[in-house]
Amino acid sequence: MVGTLGVIWAALSSVLTLASWPLFVPAHDPFSSAHDTFELQKSWGVYSPFHAVAEYSPPPQGCEISQVNILHRHGARLPSVSQSEDILSGVNKLQSVQVYTDSRLDFMNTFVYSLGENLLVPLGAMQSFESGENAFRRYSSLVQEDDIPFVRASGMSRVVETAKNWTAGFATASNDVYSPRLSLILSEEGNDTLQDNNCPNAASSHREMNQWLDVYGPPITSRLNSWAPGANLTNDDIHGLMMLCAFHTVASVPYGYKAGSPLPFSPFCSLFTPAEFESFEYSSDLDKYYSTGYGGHLGRVQGVGYINELLARLTASPVVDHTSTNTTLDSDPATFPLNRTIYADFTHDSPLIAVFGTLGLFNTPKLSTTHPEPTRGWRASEMMTFSTRMVVEKLICDQSIRGRGVSNAYVRIMVNEVAQPLTFCGAKETGPRKGLCRFDAFLESQSYARHNGEGDWEKCFI
Ligand SMILES: *[C@@H]1O[C@H](CO)[C@@H](O)[C@H](O)[C@H]1NC(C)=O
Ligand SMILES: *[C@@H]1O[C@H](CO)[C@@H](O)[C@H](O)[C@H]1NC(C)=O
Ligand SMILES: *[C@@H]1O[C@H](CO)[C@@H](O)[C@H](O)[C@H]1NC(C)=O
Ligand SMILES: *[C@@H]1O[C@H](CO)[C@@H](O)[C@H](O)[C@H]1NC(C)=O
Ligand SMILES: *[C@@H]1O[C@H](CO)[C@@H](O)[C@H](O)[C@H]1NC(C)=O
Repeated sequence: MVGTLGVIWAALSSVLTLASWPLFVPAHDPFSSAHDTFELQKSWGVYSPFHAVAEYSPPPQGCEISQVNILHRHGARLPSVSQSEDILSGVNKLQSVQVYTDSRLDFMNTFVYSLGENLLVPLGAMQSFESGENAFRRYSSLVQEDDIPFVRASGMSRVVETAKNWTAGFATASNDVYSPRLSLILSEEGNDTLQDNNCPNAASSHREMNQWLDVYGPPITSRLNSWAPGANLTNDDIHGLMMLCAFHTVASVPYGYKAGSPLPFSPFCSLFTPAEFESFEYSSDLDKYYSTGYGGHLGRVQGVGYINELLARLTASPVVDHTSTNTTLDSDPATFPLNRTIYADFTHDSPLIAVFGTLGLFNTPKLSTTHPEPTRGWRASEMMTFSTRMVVEKLICDQSIRGRGVSNAYVRIMVNEVAQPLTFCGAKETGPRKGLCRFDAFLESQSYARHNGEGDWEKCFI
């Protein structure tokens, strides 16, 4: 299968991977991109580094932003403990083999696995810093000496470090005129609206991910076993090695990396084709959909606590919630002020996915575990990258068209800069006020949250 050119490319690629994959690939090699536009780092699902999926559009003419609520996932990180085990299983099997039949594996002769676990990596810190800079630049007119962002983070190190890098970016962009602090860290041991730790009966997506792995995994597994005879890799090992491509790459990005320049792709990435990475991306879509997404029977309810906090801020009135909020914290103006203009909360992917569901964003029919729909609107590589941010803007729009000078409040929501359609609260699908919901209609649309999940919260415990 691998012709002379392929061998030359494989040899070259071990030199070039660090700088240029997938740019320098011969067109006829199956490992080169089938489509020239394939961007490897956008096929890693929830392990894709942040990238803006659209360009931010300022509010329409006649509208001014009056409040901003940012819900932000932590930046790129190291694998978790259990992910490290899955990854090491494949790595150890490959390294137990003496002879590889394909030179793409030769790097394994000297490879030493030393990633570590859980922590934010420099790329994650830098992308969060940039996010803070962007937030200041975009919303500087809303910031005043006595009105700087109120910032909370869920208590895990990578989330806390993300929040601190964001505040540092915000301060830097303001020439240190405004220096928001990380105001509050929520313990992940207790009631925490920024973590999905409060619903013991919630679904896991293992079954759906495994069904899909049984579809796309076997051909990859047999190819890699033919490259490393005797390694006895399983489909699960393949999933681990594909994750490693993402984790090894994001962990290899040094401080000082310039946004948009090529990533130092891991040599593990060159073991798989673009089509295989598309399959890997889908496993991430299934993972999120069937756990805290629409496919998890107790997914949406886990976003209720945050949404009730959001509604409290938008209406400047006390939090009303009987789910995952901490009432002690939320009833104290020192830990839950209601008079700020910018709020920023730092969280994980799963609770943020739950919040999308509570709101009604990305509402997608049941995902097949065998046949991915190519045009699906549920794509983790776009909606849940590292450092993903959902921004809820409250707008005050002039109604001067009718000549009455009446002001009216609206809401719009961006996820990774993509303005969401908000059809669930009656937003227009075209025209200058596309994607804007009337404030009252938006509040009305959140009745699932306002009713504490309409009985679903209780199901978390019985
Ligand atoms: C918010 O309320 C607190 C406590 O009453 C006060 O100290 C602070 O100045 C207020 N901030 C704004 C922006 O009104
Ligand atoms: C940013 O994150 C990095 C990595 O976790 C951390 O070492 C650094 O202290 C953070 N920066 C700030 C300003 O907190
Ligand atoms: C609520 O927050 C307070 C103050 O941080 C903390 O002492 C308490 O343990 C929290 N309760 C729960 C149930 O999370
Ligand atoms: C793979 O399986 C063969 C046959 O059962 C066994 O001899 C070999 O030790 C296994 N290799 C690994 C890496 O476990
Ligand atoms: C924590 O959540 C539980 C379950 O909803 C609730 O019964 C309890 O009152 C909450 N505790 C606090 C301090 O808010």
